[in-house]
Amino acid sequence: MPVEIDPFHAITISRTAHRMGAEGRSVIHMEFGQPSTGAPAAAIQAAHRILDADGMGYWESPELKARIAAHYAEMYGVAVDPERIILTCGASPAFVLALSCLFSPGARVALARPGYVAYRNTLKALHLIPVELPCGEAERYQITAAAIERLEPAPEGLIIASPANPTGTIIPPDELAAIAAVCRRRGIALVSDEIYHGLSYISPADSMLQHAPDALIVNSFSKYFSMAGWRLGWLVVPDHLVDAARARMGNLFLTPPSLAQHAGLIAFDCRDELEGHIQTYARNRDRLLQALPQMGLGRIAPPDGAFYIYADVGHLTNDSLSFCEALLHDTGVALAPGLDFDPVDGNGFIRFSFAVSTDLIAEAVRRIEPWFAARQGSG
Ligand SMILES: Cc1ncc(COP(=O)(O)O)c(C=O)c1O
Repeated sequence: MPVEIDPFHAITISRTAHRMGAEGRSVIHMEFGQPSTGAPAAAIQAAHRILDADGMGYWESPELKARIAAHYAEMYGVAVDPERIILTCGASPAFVLALSCLFSPGARVALARPGYVAYRNTLKALHLIPVELPCGEAERYQITAAAIERLEPAPEGLIIASPANPTGTIIPPDELAAIAAVCRRRGIALVSDEIYHGLSYISPADSMLQHAPDALIVNSFSKYFSMAGWRLGWLVVPDHLVDAARARMGNLFLTPPSLAQHAGLIAFDCRDELEGHIQTYARNRDRLLQALPQMGLGRIAPPDGAFYIYADVGHLTNDSLSFCEALLHDTGVALAPGLDFDPVDGNGFIRFSFAVSTDLIAEAVRRIEPWFAARQGSG
């Protein structure tokens, strides 16, 4: 029997939002976790040139792998042999490779709830069993070493994400070290999603590689590098999994787009432009952190990084999808329902993605303020 996979409800919101836009309504898209900026300008310019000169066959860029390896040395002080890096078509296929290299069908893999919707669904699609650990305000919506310690029986694997989607919370270095130690002791394989690295408003997040050299690391050009549609990412695997991961990449996906690999290499040298995006996100974050409590949305996860605010609206609704639909219909502001990230408690949450311009954030606040004021009054 094929397994059933839940839909991504933010897509439903987005479809309605685009339909409203096509009908002439002004819509502010804050439903998806993607930068509204494009790829860095120098990467786009290079891509134009390369299109004329390169045949765009199947290809893996040795220069890009070397550049990513150098990134681990520069940012985290960790030596990674470029051969341990598998270039992928984004983080999503990197997960498929990681999970299928590590686990046999039926294996139990722990993850935080709330968490990115695709973890649960990718696990299910690969006939693995998600073991969701409820993570509330007290744990800053993150997995802790103590929670992994308590799990009986020990799961075969653990997925962590720091900064996380939908909350933006970061696991501090000492907790990462403690998680690595528990996993080592209990024989739990670690997959660390580091797709939001580079986007932090407190101190930078550690890589799990600093604490667990055998961890599998997923990363991508979709967020920090602002290149979501280019479909480029990578997976770092330990030596003993290189052949298995390469075999899976070759059979399931072949190679990532050649053009994206060329552009991705250039993007590493576009720090100034990319850091400018982070300054925009920081302003947007401040603006929302100031405005939301005044609208009665005071219970929000601390957004240490990424570009999300996960807000508790449990006092206003027990149906986050209908709530987001009504908000979109009335104000033209599209948000993601918490149901996507947490099938148990998510109906009381919504997620704001603030990777848009600061002007749009100001306009969104202007529109939703009276809407929430009316709800608080009647709620
Ligand atoms: C936490 C997390 N991991 C992975 C992905 C998938 O990213 P990619 O575009 O690289 O496939 C996303 C996308 O939003 C995400 O939020």
